[in-house]
Amino acid sequence: MSEHVILTEIVGRVGVIRVNRPEALNALNLAILHAVVEAAEAFQNDPNIMAIVITGNEKAFAAGADIKEMADKSYIEMHQSDWFSGWSRFTEIRLPMIAAVNGYALGGGCELAMMTDMIIAGPGTKFGQPEINLGVIPGMGGSQRLTRAIGKSKAMDMVLTGRMMDGEEAERAGLVARLVDDNNVFDTAMEIAQTIASKSRPVVMAAKEAVNTAFETSLSQGLLVERRAFHALFALEDQKEGMEAFSNKRKAEFKDR
Ligand code: CAA
Repeated sequence: MSEHVILTEIVGRVGVIRVNRPEALNALNLAILHAVVEAAEAFQNDPNIMAIVITGNEKAFAAGADIKEMADKSYIEMHQSDWFSGWSRFTEIRLPMIAAVNGYALGGGCELAMMTDMIIAGPGTKFGQPEINLGVIPGMGGSQRLTRAIGKSKAMDMVLTGRMMDGEEAERAGLVARLVDDNNVFDTAMEIAQTIASKSRPVVMAAKEAVNTAFETSLSQGLLVERRAFHALFALEDQKEGMEAFSNKRKAEFKDR
């Protein structure tokens, strides 16, 4: 058994979380849930960290929630513990998060990837919501986030049949932000994270918040939220720096304030 269920490192201003349970294809148990949430929150609390990349290994990002951990539970145990609700802390992270996905991203694995802000994958990546084969349905957001990402018809296809979708199909469907060679997935995610890390931290957080508002509200409310956030950014030195740098034809140097 892996001693550390996740491995973390900091590269420049990017925090990396690597799920590390290869013997179970990174099946997401409670230990991984707690470790991932704590690591992400620690990165967020470090003002030097600008973005988070979460990944697995070449065989599996994660092959789902741990089936063996929950197989014998009763309805009342699942209900009382509000099983899977702990993942909501991960979705409350305000820094941009990128999922670098190789191999299987099934069930909770696909759902974990969809909790991040963008997914980078290769042609060999296999996305799926196979819970139907286990006599259950998705429980970490698959029915909601997959439907928002790829539309009702395709989400129904995935959730009702349990079939897998490769990286190319996932990119065409809008689930994947960038499709790259399988062996380039992590490096591409890191490059994107480093690009984000060259911006202003409060502006990056405002941008993430604004896009996420689109999933929670009406168009007119969302436009108002966006416009007010845009106005508020004029209180930052980084706004002055960004616009002055443009006028002076130089690269902006942001100070996160
Ligand atoms: N939970 C627990 N253990 C898992 C697992 C999971 N989700 N997925 C794989 N494993 C374990 C296997 O039991 C096996 O362990 P042992 O060696 O001790 O038997 C090990 O990982 C390797 O797996 P396989 O031998 O099955 O590997 P494979 O290459 O033959 O098959 C696979 C790969 C098709 C992904 C297959 O492992 C599989 O179907 N896994 C389950 C996928 C699944 O149903 N995921 C959804 C889980 S439920 C869920 O996620 C609910 C939710 O909405 C959050």
